Amino acid sequence: MTDKKKMSVAEILAAARAGSKASAADEQAPVAPAEAAAAEDTPPAPKPAAAKPAAGGRPSVQDILAMARSGQAKPAAEAPAAKPKPAAKPAAAKPAAAKAAPVGQGAKKNVQRDTASILAAARAGAKPGPVSKAEAPAAARPAKPPAAKAAAKPARPVPPRPMRPQATVPAKKAVTEERRTFLSYALGSFMAVGFTALSVTGGLFSLGLARFLFPNVLAEPPSRFKVGSKEGFPSGKVETKFVAQYGVWVVNGEFEGVQQIYALKTVCTHLGCTPNWLEAEQKFKCPCHGSGFYKDGINFEGPAPRPLERYAIRIADDGQLEVDKSKAFQEELGQWNDPESYVTA
Ligand code: FES
Repeated sequence: MTDKKKMSVAEILAAARAGSKASAADEQAPVAPAEAAAAEDTPPAPKPAAAKPAAGGRPSVQDILAMARSGQAKPAAEAPAAKPKPAAKPAAAKPAAAKAAPVGQGAKKNVQRDTASILAAARAGAKPGPVSKAEAPAAARPAKPPAAKAAAKPARPVPPRPMRPQATVPAKKAVTEERRTFLSYALGSFMAVGFTALSVTGGLFSLGLARFLFPNVLAEPPSRFKVGSKEGFPSGKVETKFVAQYGVWVVNGEFEGVQQIYALKTVCTHLGCTPNWLEAEQKFKCPCHGSGFYKDGINFEGPAPRPLERYAIRIADDGQLEVDKSKAFQEELGQWNDPESYVTA
């Protein structure tokens, strides 16, 4: 009995599971030393162990193994049993109770039940039940069916997928449209400004080109002009009415003891300003720097370096005095003695 307990149920199960693959030689040889010892203790059974364990004795380990390997329906020990326990009955709940039962007849029955359940499990290819003390408590607990487990666990509510807001797309579209409109306006305005500037530049260029091609022509007065008869210029008279149009004073004055009619140029010999005739003072006064000239044109004050100049004058064929501005006479050069520079009054 002690030798039989040496082989644990786990070993028996392992041997039974491996039995289908084992060779014939494995059947002859003992599976484990424990089995060998159990076989020695067990009374020698006839060769067809599966057929003749009907003697009512407990099947040996070898018999169990042989039956498991051969796939026989029922072990010989179960055949005469009064209570026909189905072999397929789940043995998972039994082994723990069998282990807890007192040693005796009940224990024997439990052992037989364990063997049947082990065999059934081995045939079914599933683990029959607790095979060790560590597995027993776990097997004793009623296993929860997976369906019940799933039912016990409340399903996590899946929130509904939020609907895509319909207003988002139009808003984006509107923003895009606004951007496009702004860009088009901006580009349009920039282009308009550019084209306007280009047009203005082109117009100015055309005007400049036209002015270059057709320059202003100064309508200068003719260099020769008639101022009237000698009688129109009495002695000591300074005629200023030709200053604006011709830039000439026609004077009936005395120069070096000779009464003459001469034409004085209205340009200051300092820097070119136009002096004024001051009738009260009987002098020409330059407003720019204060140069002063006598009636005959000789400078006497101010920065003017030299006398005024004279134009040529003569009596034309019609008896009128004619001034010719193409010819000028300077006193410092002695040119006022030229008869072309004056007319005897
Ligand atoms: Fe006549 Fe200077 S320009 S005084």
